[in-house]
Amino acid sequence: MKQKLIGELVFLLFILGAFGQKLTSSKSFISKKSQLQHDFQKFKKTYGKSYDSDEHESYRFNVFVENIKEADALNNQSTSAKFGITQFTDITKEEFLNIYANSKISTEDSFDSYLQNTSSTDIQVENQIDPPQTWDIRINGPGKLQPIVNQGGCGSCWAFAVTTAVENQYSINQNLNINLSEQQQVDCVYKRDGCQGGWFPDAYNYVQKIGLTTEDKYPYTGQYGQCRAQQMNQFYKISGFVNLPNDHSAIKQALVSKGAVSVGVDCRLWAQYTSGIFDIDPIYPELNKAATIIGYGPNYWLIRNTWGTAWGEQGHIRIANQKRNTVLTKYSFQPYL
Ligand SMILES: *[C@@H]1O[C@H](CO)[C@@H](O)[C@H](O)[C@H]1NC(C)=O
Ligand SMILES: *[C@@H]1O[C@H](CO)[C@@H](O)[C@H](O)[C@H]1NC(C)=O
Ligand SMILES: *[C@@H]1O[C@H](CO)[C@@H](O)[C@H](O)[C@H]1NC(C)=O
Repeated sequence: MKQKLIGELVFLLFILGAFGQKLTSSKSFISKKSQLQHDFQKFKKTYGKSYDSDEHESYRFNVFVENIKEADALNNQSTSAKFGITQFTDITKEEFLNIYANSKISTEDSFDSYLQNTSSTDIQVENQIDPPQTWDIRINGPGKLQPIVNQGGCGSCWAFAVTTAVENQYSINQNLNINLSEQQQVDCVYKRDGCQGGWFPDAYNYVQKIGLTTEDKYPYTGQYGQCRAQQMNQFYKISGFVNLPNDHSAIKQALVSKGAVSVGVDCRLWAQYTSGIFDIDPIYPELNKAATIIGYGPNYWLIRNTWGTAWGEQGHIRIANQKRNTVLTKYSFQPYL
């Protein structure tokens, strides 16, 4: 992958150069271009993409080339993360941000006043353990996690993050292996379309009052529909949820002793992420995505995402924990039964 990206980078620099000066080596130009076209065909096959017309296909190819260029620039900026071809390489930055980075609450001020209106308790985590150097719920527990899913083209990351944490709580406390419904949250938590984003306090309040039915009773469609919760009869509830203190050690302790933590992150530069520790600092981090912290290492947080297992490190991203590139420690929540 790295080798290929270097090849493509050379090609892109070549194109850029070609605008400013006469094309001197048309042979190498053709071979690099055909390499990109080859990569694009492979990309289409890997991700099952097809386009309804030649114009559309050629438009998507140009977007693909732009995204490879951005991936190369990010590879340049990062010391440890790798960027390259993902399922998002044929969509524009705007499309990506609209669908995947559109949480309704994006400024700290509005979030803080929002939080005051919820029933979340800001409890202190007892300093009873020294958190280990590394942790991974998949290996160390507590409890189990269901397989990684793909939210598709619906901005429902928040609902998936909520089911992940609540399922983990049922596994820890009642030894239950269940898949809970995201679709119920998309349809029922708001009076508006839950595919347009949502947020933890609203969703956890809903799970506390009404509860969630299972995935097989209320399956995921990835589209907003009429709420059907009143037709269901068995709900899994929580007793409450905590807005964890804005402190790395407290979050580590909560994770190790009590399970998965829901978290607000900034995913604007995640589209072409393929592996490694993400360490690029957006200057003004914003809150635009919900995910789950399931572990950490000496210098990173291990984040579980909902873009399928083909994205990132089998569906996960590791994020440098010494940087400002997420708002991780501020917007972290944990439900309890
Ligand atoms: C990568 O970094 C090198 C050296 O700083 C620079 O010359 C090159 O233009 C950069 N490439 C991209 C795509 O940003
Ligand atoms: C919080 O509640 C206060 C008083 O009820 C209200 O004025 C304010 O708009 C609410 N804030 C949010 C973000 O909902
Ligand atoms: C939960 O859903 C996944 C598919 O996303 C499936 O593989 C798994 O077996 C399900 N678990 C249960 C307990 O139904």
